[in-house]
Amino acid sequence: MGEKIIGIMGAMHEEIDGIAALMSHVQTEEMGGRTYHSGSIGSVRVVLTFSRWGKVAAAVTATHLILKYGVTDIIFTGVAGAIDPELHVGDIVLAQRLIHHDLDGRPLMPRYEVPLLGMTWFPAHEDHLQRAGSVIQRLLDSGTLISAISPERLHLFGIEHPKLYIGDIASGDQFISAQQHRDAITEHLPDILCVEMEGAAVAQVCYEYGVPCSVIRTISDTADDRSHIDFSRFIPVAGTYAVQMISAILAQM
Ligand code: ADE
Repeated sequence: MGEKIIGIMGAMHEEIDGIAALMSHVQTEEMGGRTYHSGSIGSVRVVLTFSRWGKVAAAVTATHLILKYGVTDIIFTGVAGAIDPELHVGDIVLAQRLIHHDLDGRPLMPRYEVPLLGMTWFPAHEDHLQRAGSVIQRLLDSGTLISAISPERLHLFGIEHPKLYIGDIASGDQFISAQQHRDAITEHLPDILCVEMEGAAVAQVCYEYGVPCSVIRTISDTADDRSHIDFSRFIPVAGTYAVQMISAILAQM
């Protein structure tokens, strides 16, 4: 098998800047309104880019990484709004499967099914899940992850013992900030852990091109009427989480 090239997509500039600082031999290229940073982290070749927000932006970016840069794998990092009441700000969700919660082609096809593809849930790649799951659990158990964040920030968000959850994530082109909106999503998808705006699109593109992928989300808010405030305040912390998780995962590749 040829050398792996890992596409890393982030939904926040803070994540990209932190991960870019880990890279060596970097070349950058601008295309389609994105900046692609190619280089290495440790001994692993990577192409890093800011996906922008929403499913179209993420799908275009993933496609570009695959076709132009020949990435063999994609890892997406970003934040998410918690839906499962067990989750707290600072917890991490590793997607097992992803669904488009705003896709509805009824009566032509079942709700959530991607037209003409016949798929509803897009699974993360098993090897990615295993590797990311054990690496992130270790970062949490050892206290390494939270020791990279200032005590003031941890206190601000009430982060004490962040946990890793592995389960289903729902993506849509909406920022969820109202109980009514949450209820409309969970009425038909009661078991999802969190919501975000890109993951299912990336997972769908990766499924269609046969590229292994994973989506890692840190909980920034609880998808309710304060979500826009919590989300904005949490962004710098999300950058630190992404740097810690990505560098530890790549060290295992
Ligand atoms: N990403 C982070 N928080 C979110 C929310 N509340 N809705 C959608 N995407 C998010």
